[in-house]
Amino acid sequence: KIWDIRTDQLKDEVTASKLDEIKTALEYGEVIGIPTETVYGLAGDARNPEAIQKIFSAKNRPGDNPLIVHVHSMDQLADFTEPLDPKVETLMKHFWPGPISFILPLKGSVLAGNTVAELDSVAVRMPSHPVGHAILEKVGFPLAAPSANLSGKPSPTDFSHVIDDLNGKVYGVVASDPATYGLESTVLDCTQFPYRIARPGSITKGGLESVLKEVVSKHHGDDERPIAPGMKYKHYAPHQPLVVVEGGFKNNTHLRLEEDQKVGVIAPESVRNLIPDGIYFISLCSGENDYREAGRNLYAALRKMDKSDVDKIYIHGFPKKEETEALMNRIHKATGNEIIKEESE
Ligand code: TXA
Ligand code: MG
Repeated sequence: KIWDIRTDQLKDEVTASKLDEIKTALEYGEVIGIPTETVYGLAGDARNPEAIQKIFSAKNRPGDNPLIVHVHSMDQLADFTEPLDPKVETLMKHFWPGPISFILPLKGSVLAGNTVAELDSVAVRMPSHPVGHAILEKVGFPLAAPSANLSGKPSPTDFSHVIDDLNGKVYGVVASDPATYGLESTVLDCTQFPYRIARPGSITKGGLESVLKEVVSKHHGDDERPIAPGMKYKHYAPHQPLVVVEGGFKNNTHLRLEEDQKVGVIAPESVRNLIPDGIYFISLCSGENDYREAGRNLYAALRKMDKSDVDKIYIHGFPKKEETEALMNRIHKATGNEIIKEESE
């Protein structure tokens, strides 16, 4: 079932009846694709182990990878987390609703054990997408929601991606506006000091530190033990080999060498004129500094290449900066760390 609910239709009467249907389905333990500002999520009642099992099955997700629990109000947290540390509360009040999840100590047995992969902690998030938020508010109970893709595929940034991956495997999908961030939320582990970024996202280390007035550590590198279990799996990958071109496309010798192959390039529109004819070009963003736009478009570009007939894909590497960290983290995960450094002329 597909419910069309755009942000500008939230006040419509027909929307109210759609939200009622969605609520009833979720109460019955069904799972539904819902929009958030980061990526679409596959939502189910976080208290209901059968609903959660449906999420793992539909995605083909390993059972040791815990889900993020979504709420519409901070008051809901008291049912299943220990009382909030004042610092966590400060961060939540500053960044919520928005693209950050907090790992907190779990309390009691309100949440289903499989929601948190039997851990003694839980990741929580309050999305800002008006439609996602309205669904959470209507439903009233917490919704566990991983990204609504098949495990190993890029996260869905548009409802059509959810349908491509999960049609026939889930009860329904809410067709709404595309995700404005396009990269999954920052995951901050607040169960230890200093707090640690378990997954980089649009809310950066510097952004957190300026609110917290304290140092935040990072622990998500590939050479280290991943603390967010999900970070250890290969991710976001199209089926063809994908190589990141560090420093961007300049002389393109590697592109010219492969005349027998169909080659695809994902790069900013501003470098299109540097790419030889006959190469399938997908524009990632306008200019080389439009990182936000690149983040928003990355997964759709990877999905489009995946469906195309190219044999090999090259993707523009952005310079190492705080604002590009999440973007490059996802690009590196998709390439499996295949890197080419362009020689400068
Ligand atoms: O932006 C997002 O976070 C999206 C939208 C739908 O909210 N959700 C999302 O969920 O990306 P998922 O399941 O694809 O990624 C959740 C990440 C995984 O890497 C998981 O291992 C980690 O969060 N995680 C969840 N609970 C955890 C916990 N208790 N301890 C450590 N890591 C946890
Ligand atoms: Mg995911």
